Amino acid sequence: MDRYVVFGNPIGHSKSPLIHRMFAEQTGEQLDYSTLLAPLEDFTGCAREFFLQGRGANVTVPFKEEAYRLANSLTQRAERAGAVNTLSKLADGTLLGDNTDGAGLVRDLTVNAGLSLQGKRILLLGAGGAVRGALEPLLAERPASLIIANRTVEKAERLAELFDDLGPVSASGFDWLREPVDVIINATSASLSGDVPPIAGSLIEPGKTFCYDMMYAKEPTAFCRWASEQGASVAMDGLGMLVEQAAEAFFLWRGVRPESAPVLAELRRQLA
Ligand code: ATR
Repeated sequence: MDRYVVFGNPIGHSKSPLIHRMFAEQTGEQLDYSTLLAPLEDFTGCAREFFLQGRGANVTVPFKEEAYRLANSLTQRAERAGAVNTLSKLADGTLLGDNTDGAGLVRDLTVNAGLSLQGKRILLLGAGGAVRGALEPLLAERPASLIIANRTVEKAERLAELFDDLGPVSASGFDWLREPVDVIINATSASLSGDVPPIAGSLIEPGKTFCYDMMYAKEPTAFCRWASEQGASVAMDGLGMLVEQAAEAFFLWRGVRPESAPVLAELRRQLA
């Protein structure tokens, strides 16, 4: 049977095996998908050994940059992201690196939530790997503007420069912004510690501004709670992004697009 894994460290709590098994069952694809704990000091060796037999892999924290360097060729979006979350063994035995995180985010926003991003003013909070992966797919939706705001402003400035050939992207500090925007996407890891990036409540226009947190939890995240308190029209968490990035990877490997809605519903049920 074709073997797939998700590499990470730690990896014990990954939902990817469950998601891909549900995709396989749904599409009738014969495959085996499991977790693989790679040693922190030797991801490359571990991956090379796996790919003697394995067909494909997802890659998560902290190995996405190493996977980028390991890949023999890259998709354009992975090249731009500077990180790889999906590896695929090609017919000639070489490894193709892709990054499906940003596409998963955009699909969750546009398909699952039915939000058009075209002409919208988007504010992205954070300037780490998650933001870098999201920039090309977000700019491809042709927003009116995309502001990257970060605690360390220089990191936001560097990203804005790196992507400014793709659309109207700019950088900011958290406390420089006052005017309402249409969409706010939290891609900081602040939610992990129950924090909310210190942005003005006036950025949310009650009943209009759509808020999204790339993190998810059983309960609404700190950012989603804050957004709801400010009157956001929607405050949505990132569980759908997780399922959609997996669906993109599955499609790349198998050429079949699984249906994400029943899988998302099952994950939500299990979380609760
Ligand atoms: P990821 O790959 O998930 O993006 P990362 O590259 O470590 O992770 O980036 C984490 C992001 O969350 C950064 O933008 C970080 O801000 P700095 O660049 O200033 O470090 C942001 N971040 C983490 N904790 C935060 C907090 N408590 N408040 C605001 N931003 C925070």
